[in-house]
Amino acid sequence: MDSLEPVKLRVLTLKDLDAVTEIDELLLGTRRRAYWEARLERIETSGVPSLSAEVDGEVIGFILGSASGWEYGIPESVAWIDTLGVRKEYQKKGIARLLFQEMSSMFKKVGIETIYVFVNWRDWDLLQFFDKMGFKRGDMVNLEVKI
Ligand SMILES: CC(C)(COP(=O)(O)OP(=O)(O)OC[C@H]1O[C@@H](n2cnc3c(N)ncnc32)[C@H](O)[C@@H]1OP(=O)(O)O)[C@@H](O)C(=O)NCCC(=O)NCCS
Repeated sequence: MDSLEPVKLRVLTLKDLDAVTEIDELLLGTRRRAYWEARLERIETSGVPSLSAEVDGEVIGFILGSASGWEYGIPESVAWIDTLGVRKEYQKKGIARLLFQEMSSMFKKVGIETIYVFVNWRDWDLLQFFDKMGFKRGDMVNLEVKI
């Protein structure tokens, strides 16, 4: 691993819309500003901590998470990582690990015992990352139907 740049973690807000939109576009190749605007508007009032990572005042990564509250029969002690992303040029420096560990410790403080995440099984980067963070295959089954 390269040496870690001075990284500052803080709560993600709607002010990060441009940065998050850009990082997502750079990673996935599609510009989804309206989608991210709706997402970031919701996290501002949800009380669940989502985080950004900054280097020299520039947002270079983010993580979005949420606690469940008994949706779909899932107990309150479960939280989700919704998504995370780190700018290509800052990857493999431990930034996603920092974001995950900080979010994880905040979840712990509010009584969360298990974190769920959905990952496309072809998404090798994310699978490898979550494997390193200690994730194992869980008991939930992904069901889908084409309509
Ligand atoms: C997955 C992702 C978040 C990892 O970010 P990162 O900052 O590079 O990860 P870290 O440097 O904190 O890595 C933590 C550990 O996971 C491992 N890891 C991370 N990415 C890996 C990869 N692609 N292959 C193998 N191992 C990987 C690291 O080697 C490290 O392990 P180590 O400490 O034993 O060396 C980043 O690759 C990414 O943003 N990918 C795109 C995600 C995406 O599509 N998001 C949706 C759009 S926003």
